Amino acid sequence: MPGFIAPSDYSREPSRHPSLNINAKEPFNAEPTRQDLIASYITPVDYFFKRNHGPIPMFEDNGRYSLAIDGLLEKPIELSLAQIRLLPKYNVTATLQCAGNRRTAMSQQLKVRGVGWDISAIGNAIWGGAKLSDVLELVGVSKCTSVTSSGGKHVEFISIDKCIEENGGPYKASIPLSQATSPEADVLLAYEMNGEILNRDHGYPLRVVVPGVIGARSVKWLDRITIIEQKSQGFFMQKDYKMFPPWVNWDNIDWSTREPQMDFPVQSAICSLQDVDIVKQGKIKIAGYAVTGGGRGIERVDVSIDGGKTWFEANRYQKNGVPYVSDDDISCDKWGWVLFEAVVSLQSENADLVVKAVDSSANLQPENVMSIWNLRGILNNSWHHVYVRSNAAKL
Ligand code: MTE
Repeated sequence: MPGFIAPSDYSREPSRHPSLNINAKEPFNAEPTRQDLIASYITPVDYFFKRNHGPIPMFEDNGRYSLAIDGLLEKPIELSLAQIRLLPKYNVTATLQCAGNRRTAMSQQLKVRGVGWDISAIGNAIWGGAKLSDVLELVGVSKCTSVTSSGGKHVEFISIDKCIEENGGPYKASIPLSQATSPEADVLLAYEMNGEILNRDHGYPLRVVVPGVIGARSVKWLDRITIIEQKSQGFFMQKDYKMFPPWVNWDNIDWSTREPQMDFPVQSAICSLQDVDIVKQGKIKIAGYAVTGGGRGIERVDVSIDGGKTWFEANRYQKNGVPYVSDDDISCDKWGWVLFEAVVSLQSENADLVVKAVDSSANLQPENVMSIWNLRGILNNSWHHVYVRSNAAKL
């Protein structure tokens, strides 16, 4: 691709905000502090988690970007960024969450393999770009199509980066054609993030954003889209990001027995406190995020201060001063997270604070992390506990 440079080492990485907690340097994987994460409903680009599998590609200023669209369709084409920008622009507020979010907590119970993320491998941004359903119409695939006349059923996104897992090849992922051509699924080819031109870390000049689905399917530095019959055979669709049951281990794993993970499950976490914290006696604030996949909306966020014996409901909001209602498409962002807040008075010196969310399909988070333990440590959405000791004397 003219203009794209995919470095094979880490000598040309972009600069990043110094407050990020770095989990791995090469490839660069970092998340914001808990406090920074929930400081605003829209996560500033600087504080947005960065999840990479190789060195960050560069795009030369004088380069000519073009996106190839080919495969099982009538009229393959190449589109310039200018042509993509000419299509109607949508601003979609959507939460991107890495499937490995909260992996460290799972690994503390029984070791798993993967980058150790705390609870901030997640962020909520306004993505600006063209709908994939509009782009696919340009190649003769109409809206709401699940199979093309030549048998295409999946849309594969191919990047330019050099990933170790792909033996130096590019990152790839696919989604079903029915989702790609559905205007309601809001799948975007995004060139903006929070009103600014996408930066290198997040996929400049063009990335895919698949709302409600694990971040692994939102391919950055998009080079090519190809319509295929079967799901992508790429490493990250076939040998990673699959949810295995707790009894599967590295000796008996058969990757072909499970489907690639798509939607993420209902999730919530307390961000106003560390997992073990000392607080002043009296009133404390329990605040954090809740989110679910598939655009289902968060129906309730429950908080407990006695380890889950009794519960009460936290306040939920997206926009300041506007009460959140899970099925209100007009005033609420269906792909966005919900922030929650509860102020409690601690009755005892030690308390086990817990949060769990319920989505609009009544899915709720599992109590016990071991019931969902899996060897790659993905999708840890178990109840989030924070243990606090009130210690007025020390503060
Ligand atoms: N796309 C490419 N080309 N290379 C990658 O390493 N990582 C994926 C996805 N898209 C990745 C990618 C994963 S696992 C996640 S969680 C998100 O990008 C992270 O997006 P972000 O770094 O913009 O937060």
